Amino acid sequence: MKRRLAVVAAVVAALTAAACGSNSDNSSTTSAGAATTTSAAATTEAMTSESASSDAGSSEAGSADASATDTAASADAGSGELPPINEATLDGAVVGFAQVGSESGWRSANTDDIKATAEKYKVDLQFTSAEGDQAKQIASIKTFITQGVDVIAFSPVVETGWDAVLQEAKAANIPVILTDRAVDSDPSLYKTFIGSDFIKEGEKAGTWAKTEFADADEVNYVVLEGTTGSAPANDRATGWDNILGSESKFKKLASQTGDFTRDGGKKVMEGFLAKYPNIDLLYAHNDDMGLGAIEAIEAAGKVPGKDIKIVTVDAVKAGMEALAAGKINYIVECSPLLGEQLFQAAGAVLDGKEIPARVITIEGEFNQEQAKEALPTRKY
Ligand code: AHR
Repeated sequence: MKRRLAVVAAVVAALTAAACGSNSDNSSTTSAGAATTTSAAATTEAMTSESASSDAGSSEAGSADASATDTAASADAGSGELPPINEATLDGAVVGFAQVGSESGWRSANTDDIKATAEKYKVDLQFTSAEGDQAKQIASIKTFITQGVDVIAFSPVVETGWDAVLQEAKAANIPVILTDRAVDSDPSLYKTFIGSDFIKEGEKAGTWAKTEFADADEVNYVVLEGTTGSAPANDRATGWDNILGSESKFKKLASQTGDFTRDGGKKVMEGFLAKYPNIDLLYAHNDDMGLGAIEAIEAAGKVPGKDIKIVTVDAVKAGMEALAAGKINYIVECSPLLGEQLFQAAGAVLDGKEIPARVITIEGEFNQEQAKEALPTRKY
């Protein structure tokens, strides 16, 4: 029923667009300035409790700052909260979700959470996976438009190149919700962007490194970057450089993409180790690449976490286990549990409610002791 209504609306919108051009603004999004609005209350229970405990228990430098920033951000939220879930609206609603792929443990947890939450609210979820290919993801979104789904959601593989397909969705009057990763398109082309502050994640990693190496005269480091052109790779690099860019004793030996995969991290780290005998520190943009790098470091006869210190982002179970085992030194959390907020936003949009243009996930940080404490109840 919802779908049939949407198809009718799409046809009407397409005819209107053909007659008058497709630039009408049907969105509830606010100006670009509102893009910094956050919604603490909108975070899922699991995220809130885990993040709260990791922030609270953190004794490392960086954590106190980070939680203060989170608090400030939540105080800003005010009107930035998503309305409560409307189960009646979601029941039977058709939501097309175009996933990035299956590159990492984080991605699997994110996919599982979105599917489980859709089932919980009886959403008719049309799920596709682009396997890291932007062209495939665009093709999926176009199919959703042709089908006349009620809402389109996606986590963009890369940041650029979305204008045309977002214009098409808008012309068809199908609301779009971004989860996890940002695009550089005009915010009027989508309803909201729900996900982490990746710059802040990079800053947390950099702040930890600065404290950890406070007494060192020189720190030679390498970086395993995420997928080239993706928002997390861009922003985690920016955040790190915000903290360490002006610290002359931190010397970047090399920085290369490992595409957010364990294999990629292992191969690139093997190359780094062969070329640079003096690596003190590795910054990996996600746990999976860090875990691949650990294999390479051990194969080279070095001790990960001691000979080469390692800081990563995500805090998925395998990463937390390596942290608890002393092979990783610090992990900045990036929560994949975005399903609840996604369907909260989808329901609100279908009810014609205004929603905030940006919803930022609140996250914590873990040192080795905190990882041991958190592991028994870790959800992903
Ligand atoms: O966009 C989130 C990032 O994508 C996660 O940090 C990484 O593990 C994933 O592949």
